[in-house]
Amino acid sequence: MTHASHSTHSSNDWYESGYDLARGLAAYTGSALVDGIARVIAKHPQANIANAFNHKQVQCKLWARDALLKSAGSVYGRIVVLGGWYGVLPAMLLEDPRFNIAAIDSFDIDPAVELVARTLNSGFGDRFRAVTADMYAIDYLSLNAELVVNTSCEHIADLGAWLRLVPSGTRVLLQSNDYFSEPSHINCVSSLDEFQAKAALARVDFAGALPMKKYTRFMLIGSV
Ligand SMILES: C[S@@+](CC[C@H](N)C(=O)[O-])C[C@H]1O[C@@H](n2cnc3c(N)ncnc32)[C@H](O)[C@@H]1O
Repeated sequence: MTHASHSTHSSNDWYESGYDLARGLAAYTGSALVDGIARVIAKHPQANIANAFNHKQVQCKLWARDALLKSAGSVYGRIVVLGGWYGVLPAMLLEDPRFNIAAIDSFDIDPAVELVARTLNSGFGDRFRAVTADMYAIDYLSLNAELVVNTSCEHIADLGAWLRLVPSGTRVLLQSNDYFSEPSHINCVSSLDEFQAKAALARVDFAGALPMKKYTRFMLIGSV
């Protein structure tokens, strides 16, 4: 293919090709998550699902999934995810045969992501729920969560104030990063030590750093 013919591809062609490719990948892999991505491309063309499912995002969530399994086990009643965006991590957890998870609720303050998260997770039936809510305004006691997950700690103003809302003894998985240059990151940390100090968990089962090309991601698993 010449450069000239390459450049005649319109963005619409790419959109159609992306959809076809995702459907093919879903058929080939039998993955409910990949099928969900194809459905999102078709139903919510405005959603930036390619950003939420880029290889760096996936790598950070694979890291979370493996560390969770090792440090906290495989069986969960209700898991609650805060700042859950399009629901990629819930889909990755619900699809993973190593886990036995009854239900995952994903809360996000942005009303635009709720329907997208539902479409992405439509293969998991009523085991997945997406709700529009501010994580500072949720009654955590009534949720009865066995695990509270927040991989968006760099997006919230006061990590300590939010964690104090979570009933003491609850298991948590938290991620943040040192990607200060991204404008939507209002509360990055410079190191794992700083993250641990800010979170001040009552018990820490896992604390680690995952160096990426442009930044390092930090993760804590423990209890409040
Ligand atoms: C860009 S996304 C997630 C990035 C992160 N690296 C990840 O995938 O886990 C951050 C999300 O946090 C949400 N968010 C920010 N403040 C929130 C709040 N107070 N309550 C609930 N969700 C919030 C945003 O709407 C957004 O969807």
